[in-house]
Amino acid sequence: MSIVPVACRHATSLPPVPLPQKVAMTAPILPRVVIRPATGDDLALTASLQCAFLPHGLFPRLGEKFVRRWHATYLNAPHGTALMAELVAPDGNRQPVGFLVGATDQVRHVDDVLGRHRVRLGTAGAGALALRPRLAAHFLRTRARAYLRRLLKRPQQRVPAGAVPPSAPASGAPTRTAVITAVAVIPEARGSGAGKELVTHFLTQARAKGAVRAELAVIAGTGSADGFYARLGWSVVEEHLSRDGSLTRTYRYELDTGTGE
Ligand SMILES: CC(C)(COP(=O)(O)OP(=O)(O)OC[C@H]1O[C@@H](n2cnc3c(N)ncnc32)[C@H](O)[C@@H]1OP(=O)(O)O)[C@@H](O)C(=O)NCCC(=O)NCCS
Repeated sequence: MSIVPVACRHATSLPPVPLPQKVAMTAPILPRVVIRPATGDDLALTASLQCAFLPHGLFPRLGEKFVRRWHATYLNAPHGTALMAELVAPDGNRQPVGFLVGATDQVRHVDDVLGRHRVRLGTAGAGALALRPRLAAHFLRTRARAYLRRLLKRPQQRVPAGAVPPSAPASGAPTRTAVITAVAVIPEARGSGAGKELVTHFLTQARAKGAVRAELAVIAGTGSADGFYARLGWSVVEEHLSRDGSLTRTYRYELDTGTGE
């Protein structure tokens, strides 16, 4: 059926159109985002989101089983945090749509993981590598020596792989740096504000725990999260090639000034 344009040349002479008494002007009620701590029941989802949407680096390539163990080190950790974003529908129905794992003090979190989870993580990692010989060869070439060196260093000297070393101010005490390790939202819920709420909640926790800045690494390229972090006020402080040859940007957010400056 074709639509014929109508020219209203005598519109002023037309009788007024009666308006309905009550015009429905209510906007559609959208689901709201809530953030809660992750639990062991969430690990299957967090691991599958990590492997699907953040597959770079060694740990995701070791498979979902290993990633579940890795993410578990952030649950109830003294210097780590694991958060879930849920969409709450108007009828109260809740659906988990995203997660964040990170450390409110990266150096201490790595020490804690090496102290408490070294054997379990190491065994799981070795098992996963045994099933993936090409990845095992890559690991020996690119990381084995650095991992060994880190394991042999005394606590407080360890700097996590990929992180910018904490700078030492004049007082001599290292700057307490929080690090977002991973954040991802299911594609259907992107644009809902879930990602922003996760990051904002993390920054609030990090500030409360005494961190003075937060950092994270983003792999550059198609579909990267550069625009997301720039929108939230983070700034690029460094660019480097990762051990796997990917261009990686370090973003920083200064918690005392509330900016990426
Ligand atoms: C990055 C990601 C977590 C964002 O989650 P999200 O729920 O869609 O983000 P939000 O809805 O909270 O967006 C917050 C703001 O950032 C903007 N934004 C989100 N993703 C963006 C992108 N890739 N580029 C530019 N801007 C982006 C939104 O438009 C929004 O802007 P507004 O405040 O003006 O409305 C999600 O796209 C994702 O999971 N990506 C795959 C995994 C990933 O790259 N993670 C980050 C690396 S650790």
